[in-house]
Formats: sequence, C-alpha cells, structure tokens
Amino acid sequence: MSLESMGAIPAGGQDSGGIPPPTGTRILVVDDEALQRQVLCDLLVAEGYEVATAASGVEALAQVLEAPPDCVLLDVLMPGMDGYEICRRLKSDLRTVFIPVVIVTVLRRLEDKVKGIEAGADDFLLKPVNPLELLARVRASLRLKHLTDELDHAEGVLAMLAAAVEARDPFLVGHCERLATSALELGRAVGIDSEGLAALRRGGLLHDLGKIAVPDAILLKGSPLTPAEQAVMMEHVLVGERICQPLRSLRPVLPIIRSHHERWDGSGYPDGLRGEAIPLLARILQIADIYDALRTPRPYRVGLPPTEAATVLREETARGWRDPRLVEVFVALPAVGLQ
Ligand SMILES: [Fe+2]
Repeated sequence: MSLESMGAIPAGGQDSGGIPPPTGTRILVVDDEALQRQVLCDLLVAEGYEVATAASGVEALAQVLEAPPDCVLLDVLMPGMDGYEICRRLKSDLRTVFIPVVIVTVLRRLEDKVKGIEAGADDFLLKPVNPLELLARVRASLRLKHLTDELDHAEGVLAMLAAAVEARDPFLVGHCERLATSALELGRAVGIDSEGLAALRRGGLLHDLGKIAVPDAILLKGSPLTPAEQAVMMEHVLVGERICQPLRSLRPVLPIIRSHHERWDGSGYPDGLRGEAIPLLARILQIADIYDALRTPRPYRVGLPPTEAATVLREETARGWRDPRLVEVFVALPAVGLQ
C-alpha cells in the first residue's frame, strides 16, 4: 500500500532541515497496525533516523527498557494496554521519564488531548500524519531530549566533583557510596516513594559537595576546630546548595544538602530547624551519614564495630539530636549488622 492510500503525504526528503540527525538517533514507533508502523518507519528512515517498532504496549515497554530510544511515537487505540497507559508508565519510571513521547492519534476531541497531557505526553500528532509536521515534531522532541541529556551530564560533573572532595580525605573514600546505600535502605523501610529514593541516592553523593570550598587545613585538621574554622566548615551546606541550585533535576536534593546538619532539638545548622520541620530526607541521610562516619577508621581512632556505633547513635538521640523513630528503624536494618 502506498503512503497516499494511508493518508500520509510523501515527504520527498524536502523537510530534512538540511541537517541529518546525529548517527544512531533512534525512534521507537508503537502501533498495533502494521501498515501504520510501516508509514512512519519509511518516513523516518528516509530522514536518516534509526527506527525500531513495537506492536503492543507490553512489547514497547520491554523495548524501551532494553534499548532506550531518543523519542517514542505512540498510537493511542491499541488492544490491551492503550497509548495513555504506556505513556503513564514511561513517565512514572525514573529510567524512562525523560524520553519524549509524541502521541499519534485519530482522536481529535479536546478531552482526548487532555487525557494525553495528564498521562505526561510531550506532544501530539493527528492521523493521517503529515510528514512535514511529523518530522518537525520529532526534531522538537529530540531537542528537548538533548537538553535533558545535557542536564544529566552536568549532574555527572557535579558527582565527579563530589568524588574529588571525598578523595581529598583518604579516610573517607567510599563513604558517600556506602551512606547512599544505607540511606536508601532506611528510606525504603519508612515508605519513601521512588522519587524520594532517587533524591536520597543523589543526596548521598552530593550532600558534602560544598566542602570543595573548605581549605585542606580545616578539612583535614586532626584536632578540634576553632570557632572561626567551624564557621567555615558549616558553610559547606550553603555552598553545596548554591552549586546544585541551577540544575532542575537536583531540586529534590537541595533540602538534603542544606539540612543534613540540622538537629532534632533545633541546635543544628544552618537554620536551627526543629523536629519534623527538618526535611524527612535530610533526617534519613543524616543518620546514615553519622553511622558510616562512626564505623570508618580515622587517624585518631579505629572504626567502631556496629554495636558501638549504634550505641553512640542512640546516645546522640537521647541528647535530643536525632529523630528517635528513624534511629530505631535504622539500627534494626539488616545492613546495619546488629541483627
Ligand atoms: Fe556535611
């Protein structure tokens, strides 16, 4: 069957914009009708895209996870899982949330469009497809994806900086990774949702990023800090927050960075927050942070065994510094090693 008989107007390669897509730019076409898949496939391949196809929702989701595409073109009316549901699933999974989804549909009513927007679709295209419009929308979606990838890249750079901070202190190597793991475990135990868990993981790596502004003479000092040195050290929570602030993807992590030195009784810094006014994720990370610090050997003392580290944590809680409920959940975790 020809493109015309499918209602598509041949592109004739005239809307390439003069610039071919970067090699390996991959589009996933999801449609239960083989001919529709073929139409879109032909148009995109002619423009230099790599195209994969899926005939059902289940197949599409499996393909996206196996080989994430740069954009998904998604039919709505399909037996089994419809396009809205596929879109919802893609947009509620952290692994796939940033892949642009263009809904391709015969449904023209406003409520259908609203449904698509609610499912998280990035754009819409009406069937029969106009090739010029199709290619323009795909290009716009890819631009969006590119920006998001750049943000991911920026986040990677910050994580490398955080690792560099950690590397300045040989006794802290591996600390961030370990505390991120135990903070996640505590987060799961108290029912934190997947977005919160992702923030905890990033918070584990980035919470002390601001120490980049603390001189070695203070950071590595083996004896107690003077009040002036302490003030410099305390700045790290604000410096870290400032560095990460421009990245939208790190917004959920900012309260962790800013508030991980607050204390339950209000005697912490930088804001002197008290009790549940301290963001929950910051309270969780703090407990994992302190526990790992206690377990890690320092130049002036050996690392404490699990029972002693837990005792110190409980003593600090009795003093009013930590969230008592979280501390008890934490010390009961299998990873803490007391069971
Ligand atoms: Fe810190």
